[in-house]
This record gives sequence, structure tokens and C-alpha cells, in this order.
Amino acid sequence: MKYTKIFKRRERLRYGYYQFMDHFFGRERSFRWHNKSRRRLYTNIHNRLKASGSVGQTFEIERRKDLTLEEFKNHYIKKGIPVVIEGQANGWNCTKEWSLEYFKELYGEEEILFINHEAIEDPYERLLLKDVLDGIRKGEGKYYRFYPLLQRHPEHIKDFDYDWILKARHKFTIGENFQVFVGGKDSYTPLHNAFSCNIFTQAHGKKEWYLYPPYYSIVFDPDPAQNIYRSVSSRQGGAFNPFEPDYDKFPLFRYIDRIHVELNEGDVFYNPPYWWHAVKNPEDSIGVGYRWLPPMHCLKKSPLYFFLDLCARNPTLRGSMKLAKEDINLIQLAQTGRLDDYLERKKKEEQMS
Ligand SMILES: [Fe+2]
Repeated sequence: MKYTKIFKRRERLRYGYYQFMDHFFGRERSFRWHNKSRRRLYTNIHNRLKASGSVGQTFEIERRKDLTLEEFKNHYIKKGIPVVIEGQANGWNCTKEWSLEYFKELYGEEEILFINHEAIEDPYERLLLKDVLDGIRKGEGKYYRFYPLLQRHPEHIKDFDYDWILKARHKFTIGENFQVFVGGKDSYTPLHNAFSCNIFTQAHGKKEWYLYPPYYSIVFDPDPAQNIYRSVSSRQGGAFNPFEPDYDKFPLFRYIDRIHVELNEGDVFYNPPYWWHAVKNPEDSIGVGYRWLPPMHCLKKSPLYFFLDLCARNPTLRGSMKLAKEDINLIQLAQTGRLDDYLERKKKEEQMS
């Protein structure tokens, strides 16, 4: 994948230093200490890019049909290049059987942990799966992320070609995790990155993504990752939305290249570690990510972010991996300091019933 290299080496090193300071001393203090030089860095970059007259381009993701396992592994996974394999999962049970009705019938009565990203005061709800699915069908735009279907019902492993997935991924990895995403029409996840590899299967409906290489991280200027997930800076009053770009408010995004991805039922998409991405469901959609962590590959792709992620404290990498075995949404609760409250309330209710 070719993208335009627009930064000077010393700008990238400087920015790496700021990210390091943000992580260990907190964003506020780090900004206090480096406010002037930080602003100067961005002003210089902006002036240079503006004067160059060039703007970023939108590329469509490379789409392949009948890609061999060897080529997928050696050319895309090992090199960290995103790709869509059209119809790879057409024969898998998840594509043939999964729907909102399917899950409602099987597990509608089960309680789920629903993280509400918009509500700071009340960031989580304990709901029945059927209520979330009904809400999606009614067009409430709900997005249930990280549904731990396979953690609760491991027999669904038969819904994938697990053998093919295992052969495709890196040899030396720590951990693995299946995460199901069930979203209503127009539901959306803002820009973020994570240090896991992701083979994503579109089981039902459509999905759209915008991807940016980690090289452009200066433009994203993320808040320090507390766990294994990094969000775009909240300092600029919300995150840039590539689906509705506002280049007046976020001028640097005008100059960086992006990849547009459209997924149809049965498509399999490879999303490499640290690539920035935002996701939108143009219609009701069910997809599933298979994630794994290959330490050597991640170290090679972003030594700084790899190091910072190893130093994550809230929760730690080990803590995150432990929580992920039950439900990734628990990591989000730990990050916002609500995990103990959630576990206590749940325990009390269980004792009472
Ligand atoms: Fe993601």
C-alpha cells in the first residue's frame, strides 16, 4: 500500500517524544510543559502542507477473489497490508445462518453488558439481548460492540473456518479473541486504533470503514491509551469523522491519504495493527472480528505504541487479556473506573435471586 509521506523525520521523532510524555506524565502536564513547541510543530506542518498545494487521496481497498492462503499470509498479514477477500466466508455458517432473528431466538433472554459511549454519567447498562436486537430492528441506531458470543457459547466456532484462520495468522502470538459486532442502520464507531491484528468477517448486511496508516498518527494526536485501545484526541472538540469530513475544523486531515472499505456479506477483511479506522453500518449489520497479538510484528510496526501499550495501567495488558476472556466490554468499565461497581451490583442481585 502506497501512501504519501508528508512528515520530516525530526517531526515524527518530536511527536513520538510528546506521546511518550503524555503517557507517563498525563496529557495536561505534558501540554503545560510543551505547549509552545507543540503548537509550533503543528503550525509548521500545516504551513508546509498548505504551501505544497497537494491534498490526501481516497483509495479503495484492494479487493481479491480466490486469494490463496499462502499469499494472504505472506503478502498481507506478514507485511501488515489491509485487504478484502471477496466472498471468502460465503460457505461459512456465520454468513449462511446469522441474523438478528437468529440471535434473538437462541439467546434473546441472556443478559448483556451494553456500553453506552455517549452517556458519561451512566456509561453502561445491563440489558437483555432481545431488547437490544429489537431496538436495532426498530431503527434506534444502537450498536452492540464486542458481543462475547464465542466466550459464552464456544460451539459457534463451527460457524467459521477456524482452521483457515489459524493457518493465516502469525505463528507466535499471545492470546486470541472472537468479538461479534451487531449494529443498526447508521450506527458508527469513531476513529481509533488497537495493537491487535484483526481478520474481520462480514456475516450479515454491509459495513463501511475508513482506514489510515499509523504513519499519520501525528494528525490524530490520540489521548494516551489506558488499555489496549487508542482513541483520537478529544482536545479538538470531538473526533474527526471521515464519513462527514469537516476540514475547516480539522485542517490536517485534508492532507493525508485514506482507504475506503466496503464490506458485503461473506467478505473477509484484514485490518493490521495500529491502523486508524472508523466504522459505519449503512444497514443492520453483524460482523465478527478474530483478533490476535503478535508481539514481534507489533514491535516492528510501531515500536513506540508497542512499548506504551505494554506499559498500560488501566487496566494492564495482562488485566485486559484476562477480562477479554469473559467480555471485552469489561475492559471499558475498568478504564472508566466502573468495573468494581458493576461486579458488586451483579453479585448482590445474584445473591438476592
Ligand atoms: Fe477497531
